[in-house]
Amino acid sequence: MAVFSIRNNHRRRYVILFLSLACFIIYRHFRGPTVKIRINRSVGLRVNSSQFTLGGKPFRILGGSLHYFRLPRAYWKDRMVKMKACGLNTLTVDVPWSLHQPEKGELRFQGGLDIESYLHLAAEVGLWVILRPGPYIGSDLDLGGLPSWLLRDREMMLRTTYPGFIAAVNVYFDKLIPKVVPFQFKKGGPIIAVQVENKYGSHARDGNYMSFVKEALQDRGISEVLLTSDDHEGLKYGGVQGALRTLNLQKINHDDIKYLETLQPNSPVLMMELWTGRSDGWGGLHHSLPAEDLLAVVRETLRRGMSINLYMFHGGTNFGFMNGALANPSYKALVTSYDYDAPLSEAGDYTQKYHLLRDLLSNFNSEILSEMPGLRWKEEYEATILFQHLSLWDALPYTHEPFKSQFPVNMENLPVNNGNGQAYGYTLYETTIIRGGSLKSGRNIQDRALVFLNQSFIGIFHHRNVELAVPDGKEKRTLSLLVENCGRVHYGKDMDNQRKGIVGNILLNHTPLRDFTIYSLDMTPDFIDSLYRAPWKSVPNKLSFPGFFQGRLFVNGYPSDTFMKLPGWSKGVVFINGQNIGRYWDAGPQQALFLPGPFLNSGMNQVIVFEEAEADFKIQFEDSPDLGMTVDI
Ligand SMILES: *[C@@H]1O[C@H](CO)[C@@H](O)[C@H](O)[C@H]1NC(C)=O
Ligand SMILES: *[C@@H]1O[C@H](CO)[C@@H](O)[C@H](O)[C@H]1NC(C)=O
Ligand SMILES: *[C@@H]1O[C@H](CO)[C@@H](O)[C@H](O)[C@H]1NC(C)=O
Repeated sequence: MAVFSIRNNHRRRYVILFLSLACFIIYRHFRGPTVKIRINRSVGLRVNSSQFTLGGKPFRILGGSLHYFRLPRAYWKDRMVKMKACGLNTLTVDVPWSLHQPEKGELRFQGGLDIESYLHLAAEVGLWVILRPGPYIGSDLDLGGLPSWLLRDREMMLRTTYPGFIAAVNVYFDKLIPKVVPFQFKKGGPIIAVQVENKYGSHARDGNYMSFVKEALQDRGISEVLLTSDDHEGLKYGGVQGALRTLNLQKINHDDIKYLETLQPNSPVLMMELWTGRSDGWGGLHHSLPAEDLLAVVRETLRRGMSINLYMFHGGTNFGFMNGALANPSYKALVTSYDYDAPLSEAGDYTQKYHLLRDLLSNFNSEILSEMPGLRWKEEYEATILFQHLSLWDALPYTHEPFKSQFPVNMENLPVNNGNGQAYGYTLYETTIIRGGSLKSGRNIQDRALVFLNQSFIGIFHHRNVELAVPDGKEKRTLSLLVENCGRVHYGKDMDNQRKGIVGNILLNHTPLRDFTIYSLDMTPDFIDSLYRAPWKSVPNKLSFPGFFQGRLFVNGYPSDTFMKLPGWSKGVVFINGQNIGRYWDAGPQQALFLPGPFLNSGMNQVIVFEEAEADFKIQFEDSPDLGMTVDI
């Protein structure tokens, strides 16, 4: 009896073993081979055949760009998990020098700029990383992510081996590169490739520059595969010996691909920036790339065996004053939203592009894609009433000490911020005049100036309006020019000429204005916080513009994402608990500003609006975005 039972148990065990094996074979048959093979860390990404290999195995880069500096840190992981669930395997990380080194002597890697934590998270979520440390990254950022203090040097030649530029890059890389070196693939980390500069072929002013950047990376311990990335116009002059050339495009251009294959035979083709949409400029329309058009390009690229990186997978927001601007055909500053019509919307919601891509990419993944995370609630908070007012003139004592100068001085060269000048925001230039007449800016106002006479508004200078009439008078009057940096150009040949404020003589009846008092209004959180001591008055009293308006937003329970609308206001900036959420402007197209929950507290929140010309005393909150009138690309 006992013997029989043991034999019976044995048989049962064999049956179970057989059934498990059968199940496993069936499971493998339907799922394809799993990639959970231990990756051989001694061989990184290889580019010397028509396919990439990673750890010695064939590998296709299915990448997406996601900017840590364009979303709250609390949402980093959510966006990465959504990226992984879409079927992508690689995260492309652009590193903005301007934000990491706002002043020469200050390197920031904490909070929302903690790149090490970001790389840790990518590894945790299971994404490989392509790192793009610049120094220039473009990315639709003010000056393409270069710090504006570089422009204090009159002779500066950005993105060249000009000694002043190289010295600054060396200081920055000495701090940045050692932080990312341990995250390289061969050291057990997620970084499989590093890009040298960005789109240098369309700049190409210095034949030695790219080798300098390449060596600057390698000398500091970068040992993974190097890439360069260029669009159609730059392909010819881009590239550097020892780095794989890659392409940027929106629509497939067979000539470019053929050209790349001729330059670089037996190499994998990577579409480093496959543009999923486009950024918007103030005064224009919201751009949309139809989902089917994007899908057609992605499908075709993958069918030809190429690798891709979606720029952007998720755009996020130009918080504060970080937005760039276009130089051509004429100056146009980018809006606050960086939705980009990407697969994930500005608020992290799934779009039609996301769903279609996920369907397509599931065929290129050997594992079943992970579940799509749930979405976040959007709250329609009760409107905020702005019940207090402070005129700009009454706020001046709370900003930097004014600076007196016989000649006008541009923002970057002002003696503020520990000798680093002013990077962003507004600068007020005041002088005394007696007679009126014709005031000519001669293109020396960058980018926009509200002009006042004894604090009364008399007109605006901007790139297309360079002359104003000043009313006549017989006694001394104060002429004030409130000049705004609307965003430095982020791309093209004109980057050395991005000094802001007043950059040359302003003529009144052919005589240059002299003897200025200059107030730097960069509107930092410290300045906004210090305004609690200022003489706020209750609304509605006699209002003066420009001015600050203050109110409260009460959040019941856990803060949620929301969208702010300011109908009846004209142009300005919103600060929530001192944090600059970005600009609004009735020029459109953007009609609502994204306010992420992590910027709000449970309970009371301080809302301050800086408005240039016209107020309605009320902010509305909605539960959906409004990027304005849309046009297809
Ligand atoms: C990893 O690859 C290297 C180089 O091809 C080889 O020498 C090594 O034996 C491999 N290691 C394993 C564990 O397969
Ligand atoms: C690529 O390079 C590696 C190492 O240099 C070599 O082992 C391999 O055979 C090369 N592959 C091709 C296709 O040339
Ligand atoms: C303008 O302001 C100055 C003081 O800055 C004052 O002396 C003058 O009377 C004012 N003129 C007018 C016309 O208001």
